[in-house]
Amino acid sequence: MSKKRIPVILDGDPGHDDAIAWVLAFASDMLDIKAVTSVSGNVNIDQTTKNTLEVLTLLGVKDVPIARGCTKPLIGPFFDAPSVHGESGLDGPVMPESKLELCGLHGVDLMIKVLEESEEPVTLVPTGPLTNVALLLITRPDLKDKIERISLMGGGLLHGNWTYAAEFNILVDPEAAKFVFESGIPIIMAGLDVTEKSYITSEDIDKIRAVSNEVAVIVADWIDFFYKFHRDIGYLGAPVHDPVAIVALINPDILEMRELYVEIETEGEFLRGATLGDYSSLSGKAPNVTAITNIDREAYVDMIVEATKKYSEVTM
Ligand code: RIB
Ligand code: CA
Repeated sequence: MSKKRIPVILDGDPGHDDAIAWVLAFASDMLDIKAVTSVSGNVNIDQTTKNTLEVLTLLGVKDVPIARGCTKPLIGPFFDAPSVHGESGLDGPVMPESKLELCGLHGVDLMIKVLEESEEPVTLVPTGPLTNVALLLITRPDLKDKIERISLMGGGLLHGNWTYAAEFNILVDPEAAKFVFESGIPIIMAGLDVTEKSYITSEDIDKIRAVSNEVAVIVADWIDFFYKFHRDIGYLGAPVHDPVAIVALINPDILEMRELYVEIETEGEFLRGATLGDYSSLSGKAPNVTAITNIDREAYVDMIVEATKKYSEVTM
């Protein structure tokens, strides 16, 4: 008997690595994707929403509601990352024109609708700033028990990537992250501790490109572009962060994880946005996070190659 699919909501700021996370998600027969919501982050909400519609058109997605989420962080100023992802947020290959429409709800309202209508708890997979997820929890705390867990890309226990203390997704909206990490909902955290080990090399890109269908070629072009910024600062390959949050759900055996109490710093000239892990249990608080600490990188690359093969028959 086939294993029951995990109901999920994808929330992201595409973003090359968000897009690749969604390639993995829609190729998996282990996930039942109930909705996709955009959030501002890598670029502004107009662009991340446009990118969301185009990525899902490329993947041949039909009958999954899509909604535009929050325009800016809860408290702080919005800032983006065109230096990494380009002005469009998905620079590199030309994308197919979107053939999809937004569902007419705000992203947070779509999350609420899915949770209200679901007969079972749903897993949230945010791969951008946590603004939408925090607003969901703030506006409808009664729906907490309809959230199975949150598998997120964000944070870095040992260092940041936007400041030396803070990773981009958390730093864009630390107040939202604090609210989510203190929510009591089980969190799987794919932070830089693992995502900087999940890098894709030029040889790996060639393997993906060799699949030779439209999705594979575009994924290879996305990683080529994404690698440009990172090659210049000494990375061995492109640290394709976001798909690890999907891997945690569909193939956790290639990961190493540990339970940890993690809190979010929202103050401080230097430490705002830091994710601080309590390794010595000094806080006396129970772990709130399953932190991913390592990955079988080769197996990760193979997952991306195999996922792209699933799109050979996609008709747009
Ligand atoms: O720090 C990496 C994260 O920030 C990734 O999710 C990337 O897409 C950006 O959102
Ligand atoms: Ca992202």
